[in-house]
Amino acid sequence: QQQEKQRLVEAHEYTAKLYHYILRNTEPAKPAMDYLRSRGFTDALIEEFGIGYAPARWDTLTNALERKGYAASEMETAGLLSRKQEGEGYVDRFRDRVIFPIHDGNGVPIAFAGRLMTSGQPKYLNSPESPLFSKSRTLYRLNEAKPVIRRTRQAVLFEGYVDVIKAWSAGVHNGVATMGTALTNEHAAVLKRFADEIVLCYDGDDAGQAAAHKSIPLLQGAGFAVRVSVIPNRMDPDEYISANGPAAFVRECIEGAVSTIKFQLIYLRKAHILLEEDGRIRYLREAVKLVARQDSPTERELLLKELSQEFGVSIDTLKQESSEVRQREK
Ligand code: UTP
Ligand code: MN
Ligand code: MN
Ligand code: MN
Ligand code: MN
Repeated sequence: QQQEKQRLVEAHEYTAKLYHYILRNTEPAKPAMDYLRSRGFTDALIEEFGIGYAPARWDTLTNALERKGYAASEMETAGLLSRKQEGEGYVDRFRDRVIFPIHDGNGVPIAFAGRLMTSGQPKYLNSPESPLFSKSRTLYRLNEAKPVIRRTRQAVLFEGYVDVIKAWSAGVHNGVATMGTALTNEHAAVLKRFADEIVLCYDGDDAGQAAAHKSIPLLQGAGFAVRVSVIPNRMDPDEYISANGPAAFVRECIEGAVSTIKFQLIYLRKAHILLEEDGRIRYLREAVKLVARQDSPTERELLLKELSQEFGVSIDTLKQESSEVRQREK
């Protein structure tokens, strides 16, 4: 079984090299190179991340793997080929997609993600679960980020592959991403071996902010200190870096990541209509509830002071409301 796995790994190594070679050296890959250039991928990034291209054909990899002596059925198990929809035989799983190789925490290639260059579904096609690849455990770029995570005891968690890559080029070398699935306890356990603090750097859109909201208790439950980047204008980290540059990204989004309570207050705001009196009241009551659950009296006081100033309610009233919540929840 170990030997079987080793064969699948070798097939992934071979496939990664082939797709990378095709991207770098062949005519049909020109649109893929243009696409990558238009998204700001330099040669250095393409090399560092081993990016490739799977041509718009059904048999490129199928034939190449066969020539190498791999059984097609075995390569389907590995997630590199698919069974033909009709009739016998196998076809390439990835076609006309930019390829991002995915490695396990030890740098062993175990899967691929393929991005369409045009709009269409699915935007990213990932390898299926296989004897090598488990989505709920894998963190993109963990092997490369590990030394920096260990040294700083901090990891930055992204939603997207491109976010990790662009953040890396901005000097953030402790970034990893989940595989387009929600963060799991297994991911948290893996990170806990190297990190004490997580900076959640998810997309600024509603889906990303909701995912951050859900990930906070999971991470805190695993024992992490958590801070959250709030990226403006619904941008994702890649878009923010393109719009504002790497220095602003590091300053505003990484160093400027806010405490979880600040994030929760920002998140809560979005669910209330603050232009209306009863919306304001409901927001304030919920906000005080969140503040009341903070352990530190100093932090509670500072947050209540901010709410008091913003909403024109006396600090004494908010303090009283906060103590009542604490009393009730004791
Ligand atoms: P996003 O839709 O935010 O994509 O999904 P992105 O990372 O910003 O990608 P670009 O910039 O458009 O290229 C975030 C992540 O969710 C997963 C991928 O891991 C993606 O990076 N995803 C998304 C999928 O697995 N499949 C999809 O069809 C879309
Ligand atoms: Mn190369
Ligand atoms: Mn998104
Ligand atoms: Mn995104
Ligand atoms: Mn993006």
